[in-house]
Amino acid sequence: MTTLSGLPDATLPPGFGYRHDQLMVEDVSLGQLASEHGTPLFVYSRAAMLGALAAYQRGLAGRQHLICYAMKANSSLAILQTLVRAGCGLDIVSGGELERALAAGVDPAKVIFSGVGKTRAEMRQALTVGIGCFNVESRAELDVLDEVARGMGRRAPVSVRVNPNVDAQTHPYISTGLKGNKFGIAHEDVIATYRHAATCEGLRVVGIDCHIGSQITQTGPYLDAMDRILDLVEGIEAAGVPIGHIDFGGGLGIDYQGDAPPEADALWKHLLQRLDARGFGDRKIYIEPGRSLVGNAGVCLTEVLYLKPGEHKNFLIVDAAMNDLPRPAMYQAFHRIVPLSPRTGLATTTWDVVGPVCESGDWIGRDRALAVQAGDLLAVMSAGAYCMSMASNYNTRGRAAEVLVDGETATLIRARETAADQFRSERPLPAA
Ligand code: LLP
Repeated sequence: MTTLSGLPDATLPPGFGYRHDQLMVEDVSLGQLASEHGTPLFVYSRAAMLGALAAYQRGLAGRQHLICYAMKANSSLAILQTLVRAGCGLDIVSGGELERALAAGVDPAKVIFSGVGKTRAEMRQALTVGIGCFNVESRAELDVLDEVARGMGRRAPVSVRVNPNVDAQTHPYISTGLKGNKFGIAHEDVIATYRHAATCEGLRVVGIDCHIGSQITQTGPYLDAMDRILDLVEGIEAAGVPIGHIDFGGGLGIDYQGDAPPEADALWKHLLQRLDARGFGDRKIYIEPGRSLVGNAGVCLTEVLYLKPGEHKNFLIVDAAMNDLPRPAMYQAFHRIVPLSPRTGLATTTWDVVGPVCESGDWIGRDRALAVQAGDLLAVMSAGAYCMSMASNYNTRGRAAEVLVDGETATLIRARETAADQFRSERPLPAA
């Protein structure tokens, strides 16, 4: 694919590029998809997702491993099916995600259940279908799980999520491995927790787990966490509790704005060297990547509704909003915004790209240099992860439609949500 020379910094992620001045995803014109399905519209590249997965598969080749896609990143059924059919297990965090996972055809034995607040009902649901592992986050949860499993005459497969107290050097809202976080069991309490778990009749210890945060762009924090986990495994096994698998969590970042995270295969080359050096080379490895599998495989297409130049700021009002793309409002996140058909001969102006929602926080990009007119189409890049899955109906806006592209084939994988869809489960008062 050629890159349009006139565009500043037009390096786009794999699967996306300009051909004859039209932004393409694989062999499909994004402009064509927008006119067929309307906007806002999420579009994903199957090849980009499978390419991202392949980097992990290369990195872990020859090792016993299970890649459990953290489905919270994007839980649309067709996305799950794509990754499950390519061999992934799934990392879930709720009973709802379990139902989706099963609907996508995952083998329950390849499902792991993370999260600090599993309910008894969710535990029963997961035990009934026979998931592979509960990642337990507190002593209280461990005891409830033991009780629930005994009540069902089962033994729940468990791994304790360790809080390794490592700084992932990322946004504070998405850093999870530090002492002040709500996640995991404190490093110093872990061995005692395993001793206790080993005595519970409703539990079967199968592994150990950690996850230190998200959008991590350096190898160092992973190496630190690995060292801490391996120290613990040595201690736990010395206490007589064998550890089957070691789960190193997810968290690998993607390039949103010139970020330079390591490639998954390069990261694992380093991590495996450390694992080998410490004598754990033949241990079964689990990982829970989310963003790095889908983030750069998706874009959100949006139409420019109005230009609103002003004395202090110029606003570009588009039809996508914070309910579709919550990351800028929540984390001040940066998503690149590019035109589907770049214009020549139109002055470039600096715009704040904002949505129609009635909140000042409803912005998608700030101070973006764009040459656009009303009616033009834009692509918000790197929108495959934590956009659709975090979308809301705020302002009674229907959630966007989604399309999955494979080569020349585009498939609608989610219809645009209607207002009737949104209030279907509401119960209006009887007529006055
Ligand atoms: N495992 C656990 C236990 C997690 O909590 C998460 C993400 C993952 C795996 C996957 O992490 P990833 O590979 O995607 O970094 N909404 C935020 C990100 C929240 C991440 C929550 N946990 C965002 O849009 O940046």
